[in-house]
Amino acid sequence: MDKVYIFDTTLRDGEQSPGATLNTEEKVEIARQLARLGVDIIEAGFPASSPGDLDAVQRVARQVEGPTICALARCIMSDIDAAWEGVKDAPRRRIHTFISTSDIHLEYQLRMTREQVIQRARECVAHARSYVEDVEFSPMDASRSDPEFLYQVLAVAIEEGATTLNIPDTVGYIMPAEFGALIRGIRQNVPGIEKAIISVHCHNDLGLATANSLAGVLEGARQVECTINGLGERAGNASLEEIVMALYTRRQYYGLTTDIKTTELYPTSRMVSNYTGLGVQANKAIVGANAFAHESGIHQDGILKYRQTYEIMDARTVGLAQSTMVLGKHSGRHAFSDRLEQMGYHLESDQLNRAFARFKELADKKKTVTERDIEAIISDEVFQPVEVYSLEHVQVSCGDHAIATATVSLRAPGGNIITDAAHGTGPVDAVYKAINRIVGEANELIEFSVKAVTEGIDAVGEVTIRIEAEADGDDRFPLNPQTGHRTRVFSGHGASTDIVVASAKAYMSALNKLLAVKSPSRVTA
Ligand code: KIV
Ligand code: ZN
Repeated sequence: MDKVYIFDTTLRDGEQSPGATLNTEEKVEIARQLARLGVDIIEAGFPASSPGDLDAVQRVARQVEGPTICALARCIMSDIDAAWEGVKDAPRRRIHTFISTSDIHLEYQLRMTREQVIQRARECVAHARSYVEDVEFSPMDASRSDPEFLYQVLAVAIEEGATTLNIPDTVGYIMPAEFGALIRGIRQNVPGIEKAIISVHCHNDLGLATANSLAGVLEGARQVECTINGLGERAGNASLEEIVMALYTRRQYYGLTTDIKTTELYPTSRMVSNYTGLGVQANKAIVGANAFAHESGIHQDGILKYRQTYEIMDARTVGLAQSTMVLGKHSGRHAFSDRLEQMGYHLESDQLNRAFARFKELADKKKTVTERDIEAIISDEVFQPVEVYSLEHVQVSCGDHAIATATVSLRAPGGNIITDAAHGTGPVDAVYKAINRIVGEANELIEFSVKAVTEGIDAVGEVTIRIEAEADGDDRFPLNPQTGHRTRVFSGHGASTDIVVASAKAYMSALNKLLAVKSPSRVTA
């Protein structure tokens, strides 16, 4: 069967999701997981946008084996030089350069004529080609561009040696039938098109990113640009898991294949959600909590009689384990680590030790430890930033006739244990205030959510929070017109059978990111 290349842009377009900031270590971890997942190309970042992005791309290029590592560049010589600096150490590397082709972008944003755009595309593809053999070119806002002009620009890119031509629906405007026709038109009208792979890059503003991408595939596109959990600018990009599972589930219809190891989809989704702090909506296709849950009596009856009556995919295919885990407090380290491997988690030995210790602690409190509990432990122990301050101890006293009071002990960077106490409107508020008295880093809690991982009174609680801190002078963060300040957002998550402890852990996770990240300006594509 013909292969569709999966180009993952979670670390570049995905990171442009509002609030989804990832630090370099998290990017490298995600890239390693994407390699396990089997993606063909990882777009690791946009090196010209900031020294931090360049560093992250370089680290991915040096440390992640398997996929081609790609860096984004505007059609600007210095951007292409920076992209080369980013990817040059990767065994397989690509430069992806783009320029807008729609009249609206030319007139209002670039202030360039069509001739100037053609000339710039020519020079920049040639420049990228002087560094690497694998060059991708994107006419930004292609779906709103004059097709005749688009054909001309694409032909020039091919003449200069572009090997992949990516057609973005930058603003998520086009309809599936129109997008299919656009790809068909490109195949029929662009001289030399048979020398290049056609790629699609669809945004989800009207909820059509997956449908549009697949319409492009039906017309001959053989690369799809997508992100884990559909992250991306505004409403996001096409979701990788949806694209892959549509091609897999309907393989008879498409007659196409990918190299994705589908059982890694769910663990990858969890990792990205944990690191970005962006939860996955419960009804999200493939990886949402309800994607394989049957509520209606009629459906449940059908499922019990014959699964396929209401299920088109087997949950195990996407890496979702189905049964309650039969691990309890007598289970050993070996059984635990075997189970983790089956669930798609591949931990280093010290991570495994920490997760196992937490599992034992939990097994003492809970009769049955489910796979969802295990996932919560892993998120809490493994998917965490490097600690500047660490939580040693938390204690609260509260009630309907009491003033909530918290005492917190943190281990400070030098190793000292610092203890302080505070009152608050409730236990979590008191804990956060006590932590603030010790750490002294101004920020505002802007989001707090708590959910039970499983049913039952002894369930593990998972807390996800977002905090906002001032980032004046750093123009990659939005200016709040009301306050006149720029702000940046950090997410954190924590898990425990005690939700006050989970809340304290979530706050420490976000605060540690805030304390660690101090990087200069960058722009995004
Ligand atoms: O959406 C878009 O047009 C992009 C380009 C940089 C490919 O992300
Ligand atoms: Zn995009």
